[in-house]
Amino acid sequence: MLSLVILQLAVYAVAQVEYYDPRLTGGSMLTVQDEPLNIIVSALSSPDALTIRGIINYGNALGYGDDCLGIHLGGPQAADLGDGNGIVNQTQMMREDYGNTAIGTCLETLEGGNHYRVFRQNGSLADSGALFLAASKEDPITQQHNIVPNGYNIGRDQVVATATGGIVSFSGVDYSTSVRYVSGLLPVGSDGINHNISIDGMTAVLTVSEYRFVDVLSFAGHSSSSQSRYDCQFRNRLQRLKLVRQSQCCILRCRQR
Ligand SMILES: *[C@@H]1O[C@H](CO)[C@@H](O)[C@H](O)[C@H]1NC(C)=O
Ligand SMILES: *[C@@H]1O[C@H](CO)[C@@H](O)[C@H](O)[C@H]1NC(C)=O
Ligand SMILES: *[C@@H]1O[C@H](CO)[C@@H](O)[C@H](O)[C@H]1NC(C)=O
Repeated sequence: MLSLVILQLAVYAVAQVEYYDPRLTGGSMLTVQDEPLNIIVSALSSPDALTIRGIINYGNALGYGDDCLGIHLGGPQAADLGDGNGIVNQTQMMREDYGNTAIGTCLETLEGGNHYRVFRQNGSLADSGALFLAASKEDPITQQHNIVPNGYNIGRDQVVATATGGIVSFSGVDYSTSVRYVSGLLPVGSDGINHNISIDGMTAVLTVSEYRFVDVLSFAGHSSSSQSRYDCQFRNRLQRLKLVRQSQCCILRCRQR
């Protein structure tokens, strides 16, 4: 006996703008260390994805972890996002974790790889809530963590490819991400860029939508146990889920087995 349950709950975005151009209010799209802020996570993303916890969970879903055992090799970078906060250190560093969230980032530290630094645009002058990311691909530690040739474009593209390649999940949260590219925020070429590495001038603007599982049974008015298992069509993915109660959600189509 199959019964179809269709549930739609809107996720309301609080923000009105994707981001503010830092350059219009005295900021820069380069870090103080002259690395390009080549990815913006739009403020129109699900609000939870823009919190510190959300930044880390989304990074984990993309295959990135917090810095190796909390050890930060190389200092933090700093940026001025034109929001009135002036120059501030990065909020978070995420490194490719080689499939192991706990210690994988140590491999990235030793072997080189992809990483991104996160800055938040939240000062009162430009309080978008957007995240500005400086992504790059790095040489191994033996080479002083230099950026590989074309390492800024490659770093950006690798993050974007994973983010937009389908739904990614971590810790019970699913994310689907859309991208559009914006030119004109960053310069083109290597002039003024750290290590004299050329960039293509494109900024990837990501909109991250977060989905959580909900207790469909209560909405459907069924009396069976919430422990029941369902085949759930979750956007473009079919997965067997153990449903859990969460407060926020999305679009979920579940078919009882
Ligand atoms: C940024 O980090 C550096 C190194 O940890 C520290 O010395 C500096 O005081 C920090 N700057 C700000 C503005 O927090
Ligand atoms: C802005 O974000 C930073 C980094 O998460 C945080 O430390 C700071 O308190 C925030 N400022 C405001 C005004 O919310
Ligand atoms: C930077 O790169 C450009 C073009 O690739 C080259 O003409 C220039 O000499 C380089 N500058 C430095 C300081 O290496």
